[in-house]
Amino acid sequence: MEKLTNKNVLIVGASGGIGRETAKLLKQSGANLFCTGRNMTNLHASADALGVPQQHRFALDVSAPEQVNAVAASIHAEVGHIDILVNAAGIGIIKPLEQLTHDDFMQSLQVNLVGTFNLLKAFLPPMKEAKKGLIINLPGVLGKTPMAGAAAYSASKYGLNGMLKSVREELKRTDIRITNIYLGGTDTAFWDTIDMRVQRDKFVSAEEAAKAIWFLCQQPSSGVVSEMVLQPFNHQAI
Ligand SMILES: NC(=O)c1ccc[n+]([C@@H]2O[C@H](COP(=O)([O-])OP(=O)(O)OC[C@H]3O[C@@H](n4cnc5c(N)ncnc54)[C@H](OP(=O)(O)O)[C@@H]3O)[C@@H](O)[C@H]2O)c1
Repeated sequence: MEKLTNKNVLIVGASGGIGRETAKLLKQSGANLFCTGRNMTNLHASADALGVPQQHRFALDVSAPEQVNAVAASIHAEVGHIDILVNAAGIGIIKPLEQLTHDDFMQSLQVNLVGTFNLLKAFLPPMKEAKKGLIINLPGVLGKTPMAGAAAYSASKYGLNGMLKSVREELKRTDIRITNIYLGGTDTAFWDTIDMRVQRDKFVSAEEAAKAIWFLCQQPSSGVVSEMVLQPFNHQAI
């Protein structure tokens, strides 16, 4: 297993949900953590509890390339390159097509798909120079299995899946790994605004999802975990 001690780890979307829980585990394992969020009250609360230094906390909207580039410049000036990037930022707009607005659709693409593109453009080049790195993304099972009401979300996540698989091909002859974790329903604030009858008590917990990501951060140096699927026990969709 790869050790996490002093590894430079960036968690994008560490202000809530799965990202926040992942930050706890990675910090406890000795990672040199960098965290981003949009809601800085939430980000500071979690970073204070973990002892993440102020200069390792960033306000970031991933859909804004200039913000992503500024954060990357600041981090690269300090540590050269990121060893592990966990991209836990994302939004879920789940509604039937007749209720879905153009704005809903574009926002889903901007955050979930274009946001990840912005991160790849900013953080991959120094990884390539260093000839190593790990990028963990969370396309979700709705990035490979359809569900009614998920037209915008699935469009963004299927797109993400395709983009990441294509980039993985480009990186084949490097030591940079792209790992995708496909989570089923996970009990976070993600579901607070979704008008759908779901049994959140049967969902995967954010803590268990974070444990899976923690494991993926330590995958063997001689191999790569390309994909992991973690779903609620009674929802085995794929
Ligand atoms: N929960 C599930 O059932 C589930 C299942 C499969 C996959 N996923 C994926 O897992 C990821 C994390 O979801 P979650 O359940 O932890 O949701 P969450 O609790 O709502 O947390 C989402 C995180 O993403 C950040 N974020 C949202 N929009 C952003 C933007 N434009 N720029 C930068 N950061 C942004 C949020 O920051 P602020 O709060 O600071 O705005 C927050 O830290 C998402 O990509 C989601 O699609 C979730």
